[in-house]
Amino acid sequence: MSLLSASLLGIDFANPLLNASGVWCRDKAELDALNASAAGSFITKSCTLVPRAGNPEPRYYATPLGSINSMGLPNEGYPYYLDYARHHDYRAKPLFMSVAGLSLADNLAMLAAIRAADLPAIVELNLSCPNVPGKPQIAYDFAAMTEMLEAVSLEYARPFGVKMPPYFDIAHFDEAAAILNRFPHVTFVTCINSIGNALIIDPETESVVIKPKEGFGGIGGDYVLPTALANVNAFYRRCPGKQIIGCGGVSTGEHVFMHLLAGASLVQVGSALYEEGPAIFARLNAELSALLERKGYASIESVRGKLRTL
Ligand code: SIN
Repeated sequence: MSLLSASLLGIDFANPLLNASGVWCRDKAELDALNASAAGSFITKSCTLVPRAGNPEPRYYATPLGSINSMGLPNEGYPYYLDYARHHDYRAKPLFMSVAGLSLADNLAMLAAIRAADLPAIVELNLSCPNVPGKPQIAYDFAAMTEMLEAVSLEYARPFGVKMPPYFDIAHFDEAAAILNRFPHVTFVTCINSIGNALIIDPETESVVIKPKEGFGGIGGDYVLPTALANVNAFYRRCPGKQIIGCGGVSTGEHVFMHLLAGASLVQVGSALYEEGPAIFARLNAELSALLERKGYASIESVRGKLRTL
């Protein structure tokens, strides 16, 4: 066991880092680059039943504080990622598959195929894509989320995780966590997807910066770090039987450390990976190692959830 060793669902990871689904993971070339990187694991682009071109471009825009996107789930269709998962060498590193069906029926069809393939790939069910016009985020509709988890738990009947949107009210943390706690197959919770339906305006051009949805899109990067940490910690406190994957605002080893303190077992990297490429994982691991050593920690497990309150 090394300083950065991590564990999720009883699986060992060389370190806690992986990509956020959607970033550097749409095709085999990108996935292979993550596999070859210093990330401890990696995840495929959220897939749908059939391939999607996604929303019109420009659909991603970076600012000094992060990014806005309205990609609209461009992906190669679930058989492509299932085929990738079939050929992956799991001894090299664990692989997650992100699933984002446009309906309950689509999710059940994809999960039936993934279950039948009987692979070690770990499913993260995306309940929080803010960018498909006419399709609200499932996890903001607690009745729809419950119906989804009931059906998926029956169909898939294996441990899986859920990718959640950010919540902003204690009552919503309580209610969402209570729902998740009713489903023992939901063994990890990924917090957070982008903060949906934000608007970035260029004052020079007096214009929005992305084309879909009149410029509305999900924001990530520095904009979202405190919201991400709050959600990680809120679900860590409320879901003691589940593990948390932190996602949001990570561009330094110190940010990874904050996610671990808040309760994350693994930490995903989105906007900063988009800008810096897969070499970011070696830098983040080096920064995290140096920070842990300076503070006298012998493992990331001894950091996890150790956030102090005043
Ligand atoms: C997208 O493809 O629009 C991003 C996916 C997501 O935010 O869940």
